[in-house]
Amino acid sequence: MPRTIIVSNRLPTKAQRTEEGLHFSPSEGGLATGLGSIYRADGNVWVGWPGVEIDDPEEQRYVTEELRNDSMAPVFLTQDEIRDFYEGFSNETLWPTFHYFSQYAVYDQTYWEAYVAVNEKFCQAVLELAGPEDTIWVHDYQLLLLPQLLRQARPECSIGFFLHIPFPSHELIRVLPWAKPLLEGMLGADLIGFHTYGYMRHFLSSVAQILGYPSQNGLIEAGQRSVLVDAFPMGIDYDKYAQVAESAEARASEELYREATGDARVILSIDRLDYTKGIAERLRAYELMLQQYPEWRERVTLLMLVVPSRDQVEKYKELKVEVDELVGRINAEYRTVGWTPIQYFYRSFPLEHLSGLYRLAEVALVTPMRDGMNLVAKEFVASKGELPGVLILSERAGAARELSDALIINPTDTRQLAEAMHEALVMPEDEQRLRMGNMQALVSHYTVYHWVRLFMDRLTYIKIKQQTLATE
Ligand code: G6P
Repeated sequence: MPRTIIVSNRLPTKAQRTEEGLHFSPSEGGLATGLGSIYRADGNVWVGWPGVEIDDPEEQRYVTEELRNDSMAPVFLTQDEIRDFYEGFSNETLWPTFHYFSQYAVYDQTYWEAYVAVNEKFCQAVLELAGPEDTIWVHDYQLLLLPQLLRQARPECSIGFFLHIPFPSHELIRVLPWAKPLLEGMLGADLIGFHTYGYMRHFLSSVAQILGYPSQNGLIEAGQRSVLVDAFPMGIDYDKYAQVAESAEARASEELYREATGDARVILSIDRLDYTKGIAERLRAYELMLQQYPEWRERVTLLMLVVPSRDQVEKYKELKVEVDELVGRINAEYRTVGWTPIQYFYRSFPLEHLSGLYRLAEVALVTPMRDGMNLVAKEFVASKGELPGVLILSERAGAARELSDALIINPTDTRQLAEAMHEALVMPEDEQRLRMGNMQALVSHYTVYHWVRLFMDRLTYIKIKQQTLATE
């Protein structure tokens, strides 16, 4: 039976070194969470990096064995590859460029060469597993060259590609010295998916302006091949979040944080540590809110969870210092004996704790400067059940295209964000429930399962369409 092979840089499980040896735990990040529920079905397999350097062949065998039992196949990266491919080209070149932080982008030929080499390494790993009938679904910006590499090896194969981050204006893409091979790499796929029509539009215009390939209704004529491009806004496993929120563990953790925050109203913020997430800007807006509306002092607490991420990359190290300083300064300036304005946690949290926090929070701040989709916004909505709550959402998160019942803000506008916090805190419960109910209807319908189905159906469609086009 044909299988689906999922390929992404990071596996949904990461290996970590502890004193007792290698330890396995779930990976952070939207992608792993989103597809986690899918890959185990029907003998599918997920190919990717287990998140830590493992050179010893004995250890590699052990990890391969452990992961195989859970439908995963590891690709091991060397220390140099982690530095130049992962931290380097992926996260110091592509990540800032695609999130409109071009000023942070590093252009380094060594990084590029490592990126090419690691994409080839992934290609070999997939080819060892994939039969001619299998469908290969490649994910995200770390593997932009992989669709074309696979295509060269298996011209007839079904290949899908999905980008989980924004696709920016072609004006940013053309700045990359490697814009052409990157776009050609993506075009090896039969179907290319984005979270929003906006990203899709940018991609089509990049392909037209930089490669000269025309398109009509999302169908690109790329030399001898037709490639379909479409928007598939990713969803979450709604029932899972709704059920966990009702569990005894989630309620217990809600209680625990309730005791710690006392009578204060809770505003929640959860992100990976990343400059794209607008964490520093959010803190400044919270401070402004405390200045403008002194009545909230001692009556509101910002619970801020920051999950460590890419901590070897310079810009992330700098951001960590900035956030630590900002939190320290604001807390020192406003705190009273019985009140801490910001409760700041720098670590990852288990799902039940997050769920407890989603229940507890009256307001969730999802205010990235740029974000492909942002699943935290959807998780908050799914976890609320019958409870009221207000989502404050950046207009520059993909999720804002769908969740129009959130309070939509421009994250650069500190004043507007401060106002939105106040507005959320005084919003009548009826209105909160109405808005939340509308968002729940949408998020519960367009789940991650729906997303996968839609993508796979479109992939089947384009394969058939290609055949008819070829015989015309
Ligand atoms: C985002 C990206 C994913 C990535 C995740 C975590 O969600 O779209 O591809 O896996 O961040 O980042 P990391 O660098 O730790 O894999």
